[in-house]
Amino acid sequence: MDNRAIGVFDSGIGGLTVVKELMKVLPNEKIVYFGDTARVPYGNRSEEAIKRFSEECIEFLNKKDIKALIIACNTVSAVALEMLKEKFDMYILGVIVPGSRMASAVTKNKKIGVIGTNATVLSGAYEKNIKKENLENAVYSKACPLFVPIVEDGLSDSKIALDMTEFYLDELISQDVDTIVMGCTHYPILENTIKLIVGENINLVNPAKETVVEMKRYLEKNNLLNEELKNNNNIFYITDDENKFRKNLLDFINIKNPNIKKVDLK
Ligand code: DGL
Repeated sequence: MDNRAIGVFDSGIGGLTVVKELMKVLPNEKIVYFGDTARVPYGNRSEEAIKRFSEECIEFLNKKDIKALIIACNTVSAVALEMLKEKFDMYILGVIVPGSRMASAVTKNKKIGVIGTNATVLSGAYEKNIKKENLENAVYSKACPLFVPIVEDGLSDSKIALDMTEFYLDELISQDVDTIVMGCTHYPILENTIKLIVGENINLVNPAKETVVEMKRYLEKNNLLNEELKNNNNIFYITDDENKFRKNLLDFINIKNPNIKKVDLK
């Protein structure tokens, strides 16, 4: 038994899609969230910047006495996961390997679309891992850089979001994919809008689900589950405007009176 928290890191509010799954699958676990909302989006930045920013954030989280960490950001998982694992001595789980496993398990025609940020798509991390699952899988990737600002601004169900989704996804749909990985943790917040464009016949994969199942396996195997019965101690650290984050938390996970702390990393 280990009653310390699980750390969850993202550039902004996207990691809340992982928090939502954690709260379902591991309801006793405490969560310490870090959203680098002052510097979101990461996905249009250089590899060097993504590595530097994520290292600074994890240095902060590492001092919060966490027992394990989820990199709830595909961009950071794609570009900086190995570096972070080398640098920090704790169990660190990214979202790309679990997401690739899930996609490969659900596809029937072995044509898998991946949508993500520029940096995630450029890294080729999903192609590599989805092929590792099954060499016969064909992967079609599409960067959707405008999705993140749309989600951060709370416009996920708007006409703009719908038009943007059509613009980005038309090409993938015409490639006859039967599965699309939402390869950015912000995108499941857009899931209803994406569904309107892709229809019923394409599976939408949310890597957060398999990531959280993997975390549960790790905690169980190593006897690290939190056995306190009720936990109300989740903390959300952010680097910018608290009100906007509070509204997103309420809209997306329906957490009332969350403990939000704005921090300055300098
Ligand atoms: N939510 C993140 C991801 O999964 C990052 C988006 C961004 O900051 O560009 O890729």
